[in-house]
Amino acid sequence: MVVATNAPVNDRVAIHTKQAPYMTYVIGARVPRGSVPSVLSWDTGDPYHYIRVAPGAEEDVLIVGGEDHKSGQADDTGERHARLEAWTRARFPMVREIAFRWGGLIMETVDYLSFSGRNPGGADNVYIHTGDSGMGLTHGTIGGMLICDLILHRSNPWAALYDPSRKTVGAARDYTSENLNVARQYADWLTGGEVKSAGEIAKGSGALMRRGLQKIAAYRDESGVLHQCSAACPHLGCIVHWNRSESTWDCPCHGSRFDPYGKVMNGPANRDLASAERAVDKRAA
Ligand SMILES: Cc1cc2nc3c(=O)[nH]c(=O)nc-3n(C[C@H](O)[C@H](O)[C@H](O)COP(=O)(O)OP(=O)(O)OC[C@H]3O[C@@H](n4cnc5c(N)ncnc54)[C@H](O)[C@@H]3O)c2cc1C
Ligand code: FES
Repeated sequence: MVVATNAPVNDRVAIHTKQAPYMTYVIGARVPRGSVPSVLSWDTGDPYHYIRVAPGAEEDVLIVGGEDHKSGQADDTGERHARLEAWTRARFPMVREIAFRWGGLIMETVDYLSFSGRNPGGADNVYIHTGDSGMGLTHGTIGGMLICDLILHRSNPWAALYDPSRKTVGAARDYTSENLNVARQYADWLTGGEVKSAGEIAKGSGALMRRGLQKIAAYRDESGVLHQCSAACPHLGCIVHWNRSESTWDCPCHGSRFDPYGKVMNGPANRDLASAERAVDKRAA
């Protein structure tokens, strides 16, 4: 079995302490054909930027990405796209309209190489591919070739380099800081709700409410009906946060994402958010 679900849904802890979920953003700007050299190039800033060109028949699209942040720990997509546009216009005066804006989740490993190979501590016939660190075109291809060789018992010179069980000693500082960041997210259990009552939640948006010891992820749909789930992520219990631009509940710890009604869209969680009633019942029990 090959688990290639971006964040592995079969592994509960081991891999998730060695990689972190980041949201990353991109814009696509129309430019005259041939006006920007066809290169892939990036800076070393924090947040970083990268550019590449998608050639077209009449004009090219200059793709500019970056402005990453930890998943579920910021909710300002519009501002990030605006900063990408300002950065681009300052350097590429030939830019016409911004035709595309999008973003998504990437998994960054502590040493920036993907994890492709046998599942750590798992059965011999379970393989994972994860942690592309924004380089899925390269890492995904390598992972496909490598895992194929492992299944067929062929030797592959990259096997140790990408082994999910490899020691990431040189990256100890990143490892510690990412896991401290995760530990800090559990403080969300102690804070109040974002709104005092459900009446404050506008149509088409979501907010956290406190109900006794529970945190509730409440979403009001476009017709005004309120949907309530437990805000506790079924993976390891961090509190999910509302993502305004994508209308999802995002977990700040290991990258799980849920639709407005709590249905799981992205692992490592492999269950939906519990219904608010069930969450309260469980506490009572
Ligand atoms: C905005 C953005 C820009 C990027 N730019 C670049 C770039 O310029 N160059 C580059 O190389 N890479 C880039 N990447 C990274 C690249 O897109 C990813 O690394 C790559 O798509 C990851 O591939 P994957 O197959 O591992 O995961 P995904 O593409 O996420 O595929 C995982 C699949 O598993 C499915 N799945 C999840 N859970 C389950 C489950 N429980 N059961 C069954 N199926 C499940 C999902 O529906 C999905 O289809 C970018 C990513 C983003 C978000
Ligand atoms: S993804 Fe791990 S606790 Fe939510």
